[in-house]
Amino acid sequence: MRITIRDIQQMRDRGERIPMVTAYDYTSAQIADRAGIPLILVGDSLGMVVLGYNSTVPVTLDDMIHHTRAVVRGTQKALVIGDLPFLTYTSPEQAMQSAGRMLQEAGAQAVKLEGGVHIAPTIARLVQAGIPVMGHIGFTPQAVNQIGLRVQGRRAAEAQRLLADALAVQEAGAFAIVLELVPAELAQAITERLRIPTIGIGAGAGCSGQVQVWHDMLGLYSDFLPRHAKRYADLATIIAEALSQYASDVRNGTFPGPEHSSRMDPAELAAALGSQDQATG
Ligand code: KIV
Repeated sequence: MRITIRDIQQMRDRGERIPMVTAYDYTSAQIADRAGIPLILVGDSLGMVVLGYNSTVPVTLDDMIHHTRAVVRGTQKALVIGDLPFLTYTSPEQAMQSAGRMLQEAGAQAVKLEGGVHIAPTIARLVQAGIPVMGHIGFTPQAVNQIGLRVQGRRAAEAQRLLADALAVQEAGAFAIVLELVPAELAQAITERLRIPTIGIGAGAGCSGQVQVWHDMLGLYSDFLPRHAKRYADLATIIAEALSQYASDVRNGTFPGPEHSSRMDPAELAAALGSQDQATG
């Protein structure tokens, strides 16, 4: 049985902190699912870490659906959330179409979209139609060209706006809210004022849960580590070592060994080559 948004609410109510990771493909989703991660986000961060763009802006709904389908196939327990990418929810009608595709075609159990007060009516429409929604406020990567990559809510007026955003998203019916790049004190204050869970990234330890980007936490995206990420493994180095070992085994003829090869009866080989020699000779 898959985890539901009700289970997530119960975790929050029991004071259990909620881990969430991103995943973009079948294999990594399977690993996360088997590790007991309850929430898997197919983030539009795939634009940077999988597709090599320099922001999430070029990611399309078709890209998201393609990757979300793979993640859903790789999971049995986790609740899979598909990110709605840039310009796919500019009106409630368009959001309904996009979110509908995410649930019906991709098999996600929920969608995530960015924004606060201004997006609340859209969230309400989706929730009324039976689509679970995760909100996302603070630094919202799809607006990077407008707001820049910086911590949000350091000044009182901006902090007040963020609190109003969080409350509006909650009242619209979202089941959880990502708080990204928000000062720890403010994230904790918002968390204490909400009934639904907050999932932080660069928002301190006072949130109900945390989310990390797969490639950051596992050391796959080796050129850059954001301040809010913790590297739990250095897989890029491990993979690079394995690949150079493989290349050197191929070059010096030690791979493949007999254990990686299949054999045939010498008589069968002789018969095959003999009949071929007769045919060509
Ligand atoms: O796209 C993403 O990975 C995200 C997380 C950082 C929350 O939105």
